[in-house]
Amino acid sequence: MEPEQETDRGQNSKIYYLNNSNKKGNYPQHNLSNQLASVCQQIKELQPILPVYCLRPHILQHATRFFLDNFLHHKHQTKVMYSVKSNPDEAVLKQMFASGIVNFDVASFVEIQLIHSLFGDKAKMFFMHPIKAKEVIKEAYFNYNIRHFSLDSFDELEKILLATNNAKDLGLHLRISIPNSHSAIDLSGKFGILPSESVSLLRKIRSVAETCGICFHVGSQCMDPLEYRNAIDVVKNIINQSAVKLDVLDVGGGFPSIYPGMAPQGLQSYFHEIFDSIAKANFAPSCQIWCEPGRALVAEAGSLVVRVEGRKNNMLYLNDGTYGGLFDAGHPGFIYPAKAMRFGENSVNLNSELAPFGFYGPTCDSLDTMHGPFYLPSNIATGDYIEIGQLGAYSCSIRTNFNGFNNYLQIQVGCNPLSSLYFSEKQVQLNQQNNSN
Ligand SMILES: Cc1ncc(COP(=O)(O)O)c(C=O)c1O
Repeated sequence: MEPEQETDRGQNSKIYYLNNSNKKGNYPQHNLSNQLASVCQQIKELQPILPVYCLRPHILQHATRFFLDNFLHHKHQTKVMYSVKSNPDEAVLKQMFASGIVNFDVASFVEIQLIHSLFGDKAKMFFMHPIKAKEVIKEAYFNYNIRHFSLDSFDELEKILLATNNAKDLGLHLRISIPNSHSAIDLSGKFGILPSESVSLLRKIRSVAETCGICFHVGSQCMDPLEYRNAIDVVKNIINQSAVKLDVLDVGGGFPSIYPGMAPQGLQSYFHEIFDSIAKANFAPSCQIWCEPGRALVAEAGSLVVRVEGRKNNMLYLNDGTYGGLFDAGHPGFIYPAKAMRFGENSVNLNSELAPFGFYGPTCDSLDTMHGPFYLPSNIATGDYIEIGQLGAYSCSIRTNFNGFNNYLQIQVGCNPLSSLYFSEKQVQLNQQNNSN
């Protein structure tokens, strides 16, 4: 591990710079006994000028165990793979592995190398990106022991067969396109073959693959469990028409987290829809059921603490934004739970009365704007900190270095998240009170 650079900031505190080059391995050991200090305690101590990612190892462990213990079926074998793209942070991956996740959905050569470097042969990877470079398929098959690939066209099938020298031990998973009408992020346009065009490709896959699968994605942050039932009904039709024996049904990701204005049903309802509709289909008992959650596993385990650098009316200028860890607050307009913290110089307490605020990020671009509304104390001011919750997913993985604002800190914390799909509101509030400054 490379040493952190330390720079004096005032008399008592230091700025800990974490550059892209030395992020690796710079994490304290996990302590799941909940003895880790809270966000407030640690931010008060650090008073950082950089954004700070707060990782909650105990929540990550809880979410992981929840999926492994509940995504189960009495008849069909099941598998939970973690979708690495949602958060490829090493501390996150190691915690997940320690909690029992050994299967990983990877989408790029960098993700493949990362998982291999961390877990070697103990991890199994599944290359579930429907369009891949032929060189990467070759590397994946011959050097990383990857046998499972998704695809949505005859061209991609030919590419995979060529790159693997017509391997006989392939698992090939046909990605079908299904409506994403109840999801915050629609993924239906870019990948997936239309069900009406899928029969001949599925038959071809069956004839060359050792394992023949169908996969789909209902869209990220899927708000209606019925979407999975509808998608499985589409799969049933394809199977009936093609008369192909299916070895794997992969229901993808899409499992939601909880955000202001987006409070989904519990994850059990999603599992119920999936397994109930599967029970009513006549898939062979040997057919395995897989899922590839990203967001639901990591979102609430991570939050981001930002500092207010300026205020104009109800717009706050922050030290992070849409080019950094808050991409989804800009373009798709996600609203996140937010909690203000005030330390030190400002002797006036934060108001209990809340007002709606929008955010500007630190870059020069006007697109770096987040309308929210984010509800915060009406007298929030320059120098205050804001913890923004549910940013364990699709935040650090999307950051850019635009305008040189990619530096950040990471800490591990023992308090519960600002909101939770796994714990009751009462449990979250109680824990927040216990951990407030
Ligand atoms: C192939 C695939 N699997 C799984 C996921 C994870 O989705 P989510 O984070 O919505 O669970 C994605 C997200 O884009 C994906 O493309």
